[in-house]
Amino acid sequence: MKLMNVSTSNAPAAELDTDALILAIPADADKPTPWEAVDAAFGGVVSDALGRPGFHGKRNQVLALSVRGGRARELVLVGLGPSDDVDIETWRQAVASAANEARSRGNSRIAVPLPESSFADAAELAAATTEAVILASYHYHEFKAPAAERVEIQELLIASSTDVAMEAARAHKIVEATCFARDLVNTPSNEKRPDALASRALDMAEKFGLSSEVIDDQQASELGLRALLAVGAGSAVAPRLVILEHRPPGATGSPVVIVGKGITFDTGGISLKPPAKMADMKADMSGAAAVYGTMRALADLSAPRWVVGVTPLAENMPGAQAYRPSDIIRSYDGTTIEVLNTDAEGRVVLADALAYARQRWEPSCIVDLATLTGACVVALGSAAAGLMGSDDELCDALLCAGEATGERLWRLPVWPVYDKMVDSEVANVRNSAGRDAGVITAAMFLKRFVGDTPWAHLDIAGTAFLAKATPYQPKGGTGFGVRLLSHWLMR
Ligand code: BES
Ligand code: MN
Ligand code: ZN
Repeated sequence: MKLMNVSTSNAPAAELDTDALILAIPADADKPTPWEAVDAAFGGVVSDALGRPGFHGKRNQVLALSVRGGRARELVLVGLGPSDDVDIETWRQAVASAANEARSRGNSRIAVPLPESSFADAAELAAATTEAVILASYHYHEFKAPAAERVEIQELLIASSTDVAMEAARAHKIVEATCFARDLVNTPSNEKRPDALASRALDMAEKFGLSSEVIDDQQASELGLRALLAVGAGSAVAPRLVILEHRPPGATGSPVVIVGKGITFDTGGISLKPPAKMADMKADMSGAAAVYGTMRALADLSAPRWVVGVTPLAENMPGAQAYRPSDIIRSYDGTTIEVLNTDAEGRVVLADALAYARQRWEPSCIVDLATLTGACVVALGSAAAGLMGSDDELCDALLCAGEATGERLWRLPVWPVYDKMVDSEVANVRNSAGRDAGVITAAMFLKRFVGDTPWAHLDIAGTAFLAKATPYQPKGGTGFGVRLLSHWLMR
C-alpha cells in the first residue's frame, strides 16, 4: 500500500494548507462552536449550514461545502451526535466518515483540526485521527486495479495547539501493521497455503528485525505436535508452526506469548461445511494475521516488551489422509482429544500451540486470538470479540485496551460447569460439545492446555472479517487485534 503522508501543525484551522478541511460538529451545536474562526474566515458558511434544516450533526452525518477565498477548497462537516455521548470511538468513526466523503469528492489532501474536548486529550485525538483516516482509506487491490477515477488521500494534516507529532507517528506505524494483517486476511487461500503464509511472515520478520523460526511437519512430528499435524493431514500442503520473537536488549524474566489460529482455509474437513459461506473461511487465519501485525508494530515501535508470537498454520481439507470424527489424538502435552467434529479444528491446532508455548517459554501470560466459533458471531455479531480467561487482571487490562482502541471485547464466564461439558468418555477432552454455550465450551477446551499460566482467549470470529463496511473498516479483513494488542503491550 502506498504510504500516506501524515503531518502536524499548530496553525489556526482556517489557515491550514489543504484541499478539504474537516470540521466535527456535535448534534446540539446551534452555533459553529468551536469553529467560529473558520466560519468567519469563510464568510459564515458553517453557521448558514447549521441554520438550515438538513444537517443535524447526527453521528457520522456528512455535509461538504465548497468554499472560496481561503486555502481549502471544501469544508466537510461531520456530526458527532449528542455532545454528552461522544467518546474516542465516536470521534474515530466521524473522522473516517468525513475522510471517506472528502476522498470520494476527489480531495487528496485533508486536514483535521482537533477540538478542545472533554472525552480525550490531544494526543489521543491525534492517534485516533491518524487511525481513522488510514484505516478508512485501505483497500485490497492485489488482484484488481483500483478504478481509474479513484482518488487516494495522500496527505493528512492534523492541527493542534499542543505537539502531537509523536502520537500520530506511533499510531501511523500501528495502523500500517493493521493494514498488513488485513492484506493477509484478504489474500485468497490459494495464495496463502501454510508454506506461503509462513514465508510472508518470515519476509516481514526479516524486514522489521524480528527473530523467526518455522517448525515444519518433520520437526513437528519429532516434537510431537500431533494435534496440529492431524488437522493438516487432509491437505497436500503440510502444517507449519511459525514463531516470531521481539526481544528488546536486556529483557529478562519471561515473555508474553500471543498465539493466533492460522487455518489458511477451513472447509470443515470430513465434517464438511455447507457451501453458502464457505468462501469466508479464507479468513480463518485472522488470529495468525493479528499476531503478525502486532509483532510488526512492536518491532517498528521498538517496544520495551519481550513478546513471542506463535501461529499454528494448517489447511483444513477433506482428503484421503484427513483426520476423521471418532479419531483420538494424543496431543503435544499428552492430553488426549476425541475428535467428534473435524470442523472444530481451531481448538485442536491451538491445543498444541498453547501447550508448546507454555512448556517452552514459561510465559508471564498467554493471549490467544482465534476465529473459533460461529456461536460467537451469533452472540456478539461484529461489534465485539468474545473474551474468556482465567485471570481477572489480564482480562481487565484487555477490556481497557478494547475501549481505548475501539476493538471492543465482551467477557464471558469460564465456570467449572462449562468445563464438565468438554469431558469425553473415551479421551481426556472432546473437541465438540454441541450447541449450548458454544463460545464458552471452545474456550474450556483451550483452557485444558494452558496449565496455570495466566491466559486470555479472544474469539474474533465476528470481528475479523466483515460482510458490510463500517466507516473505517471496508468489507473483508479488519486486522482486528493488532491495535488492541499493540495498545495493551505498549502500556
Ligand atoms: N472457523 C470456524 C468458526 C467460524 C464460523 C469463524 C463463522 C468465522 C465465521 C470454526 O473452525 C468452526 O467451524 N467452528 C464450529 C465449531 C463446532 C463444529 C463445534 C462452529 O462454530 O460451527
Ligand atoms: Mn472449522
Ligand atoms: Zn475454523
